[in-house]
Amino acid sequence: MKIQQFRYASDNLAYLVYEGRDAVAIDAGAVDEILAFAEARKLAIRSVANTHTHADHTVGNRRLLEATGAEFLDCRRVPHGRHLPVGGGGITIYRTPGHMPDCVTFQAEGALITGDTLFNGTVGNCFSGDLKSFFESIRFLMGFDPATLIFAGHDYVRESMAFARSIEPDNPAIEGYLANYDPLHVVSALGDEFAVNPFLRFNDPAMIRILEARGLPTATEFERWQSLMEVY
Ligand SMILES: [Fe+2]
Repeated sequence: MKIQQFRYASDNLAYLVYEGRDAVAIDAGAVDEILAFAEARKLAIRSVANTHTHADHTVGNRRLLEATGAEFLDCRRVPHGRHLPVGGGGITIYRTPGHMPDCVTFQAEGALITGDTLFNGTVGNCFSGDLKSFFESIRFLMGFDPATLIFAGHDYVRESMAFARSIEPDNPAIEGYLANYDPLHVVSALGDEFAVNPFLRFNDPAMIRILEARGLPTATEFERWQSLMEVY
């Protein structure tokens, strides 16, 4: 399974997941680039899907569907664990509500396409208002192998590392994370996120000490996550 990333509208990230001649487009805002890429490799785009229904992620749907005749996969109606065949393999789709109620994450072998749920370096805003579901979604994603690659819906790496540094100025992992940052190919391993992403560090002793020093609730992991989400 291969994953091609396309940047559009300054910090949005679109994806084409493909194997053999079959491809699936996810948050395909970079329509012209995606069509050119597919044509050059003789790929047939079978499905057009989104990580959630925010307009900056769905903006390419109509044109791409018209150009390819692909099936539209509605993220509002996909059941948790739905398998989508691609070439000889496939993608599994998981419901990961929180940023929005309709957020889903796509797993393609050792990679996750996380939309605005989990970014490289941070997490999305909780526009659903359901912080508990968001926490459970993040907890679910944290259960994947640390080598899993994270492909997100936006490139917020620089801002999120400036923010991470403001919370944890002594975190030695931040510098190395920034040294690996490439705006032309924005990706990190889940294990890197455990080291730098403040919103995945609610069980790290260094982060717990920081929350305690601020007098924030730290008794349970949800309390610690809530403290991070509400304060920062
Ligand atoms: Fe969004």
